[in-house]
Amino acid sequence: MSCSLRPVGHAQRAPLERLTAATGLFRPDEVAIAVELLDDALAGDDDYRFLGAYADDRLVGYACWGPTPGTARTFDLYWIVVDPTCQGKGVGTQLLHAVEHKLTMDDGRLIVVETSSRADYAPTRAFYERRGYTQAARLPGYYAPGDDLVIYLKDLTHGVLATATA
Ligand SMILES: CC(C)(COP(=O)(O)OP(=O)(O)OC[C@H]1O[C@@H](n2cnc3c(N)ncnc32)[C@H](O)[C@@H]1OP(=O)(O)O)[C@@H](O)C(=O)NCCC(=O)NCCS
Repeated sequence: MSCSLRPVGHAQRAPLERLTAATGLFRPDEVAIAVELLDDALAGDDDYRFLGAYADDRLVGYACWGPTPGTARTFDLYWIVVDPTCQGKGVGTQLLHAVEHKLTMDDGRLIVVETSSRADYAPTRAFYERRGYTQAARLPGYYAPGDDLVIYLKDLTHGVLATATA
């Protein structure tokens, strides 16, 4: 599926909320957080950066990332979401690669992604693993009993800077 990647603006606030909710994976309070982060970004907060994927001017996916406070060039990928009707067509990969490219240009070192161990997140975990993200930690029962926090890492420097002494 061919998409163009562009910033996410005020006009995409409602579509972003709708497509995040439409995945069926996120609770209403989690959907509200995604919208809040967009509001912060649109208000000029550089801690949250958004990139949208558009098909014929319709927002079909987005990624949100930002620098991890207190680290040397580590970034968190907070959200990556593709409209359920457009999943499995390469949009998520396009977004992920674009974020990685931007971070490489910004001298980024590590990307951290937090996700869940739940069975309904298995395709999400496979998505990251097939794209070079390695499971770095797992906190049992973090989200809820039986629902672990799974933390993935990707080293944008291929190990050169990640292991260098500060
Ligand atoms: C995870 C997600 C961003 C991937 O985007 P996508 O556009 O569906 O992915 P692509 O088409 O680029 O890549 C497909 C790959 O992702 C995997 N995948 C993950 N979820 C998938 C889904 N719902 N449908 C199809 N493929 C999915 C496939 O296994 C496939 O793997 P492969 O190419 O290595 O064989 C998207 O499916 C999504 O929004 N999922 C729900 C929200 C979510 O889990 N977000 C991440 C946590 S914040």
